[in-house]
Amino acid sequence: MAECLQAVNLFWSPVLRDISLTLEPGELVALIGPNGAGKSTLLRMLTGYLPPDNGQCVLNGKSLAEWSPQALSRRRAVMRQQSQLGFDWPVEDVVAMGRAPWQQVNSAKIVREVMDLTGCSPLSGRKYNALSGGEQQRVQLARALTQLWVDNAPQGWLFLDEPTSALDLYHQQHLLRLLKQLTTGGQLHVCAVLHDLNLAALWADRLVLLHQGEIVAQGSAAHVLQAQMLSRWYGAEVHIGQHPGSPTPQVFLAP
Ligand SMILES: Nc1ncnc2c1ncn2[C@@H]1O[C@H](COP(=O)(O)OP(=O)(O)O)[C@@H](O)[C@H]1O
Ligand SMILES: [Mg+2]
Repeated sequence: MAECLQAVNLFWSPVLRDISLTLEPGELVALIGPNGAGKSTLLRMLTGYLPPDNGQCVLNGKSLAEWSPQALSRRRAVMRQQSQLGFDWPVEDVVAMGRAPWQQVNSAKIVREVMDLTGCSPLSGRKYNALSGGEQQRVQLARALTQLWVDNAPQGWLFLDEPTSALDLYHQQHLLRLLKQLTTGGQLHVCAVLHDLNLAALWADRLVLLHQGEIVAQGSAAHVLQAQMLSRWYGAEVHIGQHPGSPTPQVFLAP
């Protein structure tokens, strides 16, 4: 049976109301929605950190609650919205934390490979807590990918909560191109909360729009990013155009 992650009738009072969602293998899914819609709460539930009041999340036919912490850590990794550390570790050690669920074989090699892939190598030797917010985000992505590394590539479910919020243009593009390339291989499956709808339009396979704890729309960028839909759910006045270099819609705020 193909691997998939299913959320079935999730309730978490008063934040989530009857959420059902299936994440398919090799997909890059963007969770979007206004502030307070329940995106981070849903992510915590999909990753097994927060048990629902009702409903369940099922990974490969088994409820997340029945997975052992170690087995689950080998199949899914999470990059949170903010990750301050209480200790003053060098960047390499923070990335190597991703190997904790595994025997430590080849961990130095994997850490080097993933740091190269994520553009973290220039941060080598620096203390994590002294990095800028954007640099810390890159290191957290590297840590999460290191956690999912099997043989020569990441495998499993990667969840990211606003991973581009502190990244500059180059690193936004680098991160999304990397995720796209890794998911296209079919072994990595990604679900990311994204505030930037234009990034979601360019790179996500599917957009899931949350509003007050419910999924109010989902599908392709062309389906979800319609002016009426966005003004209804975000309350913002927008224009929709087309990206000059790609057949995807782009969102412009009305002045
Ligand atoms: N532990 C909690 N108890 C009660 N309300 C919460 C809790 N965590 C989050 N909330 C509320 O749930 C709503 C959704 O939060 P969140 O999932 O963080 O939203 P988003 O990530 O979409 O901005 C917010 O109004 C928030 O204040
Ligand atoms: Mg959030």
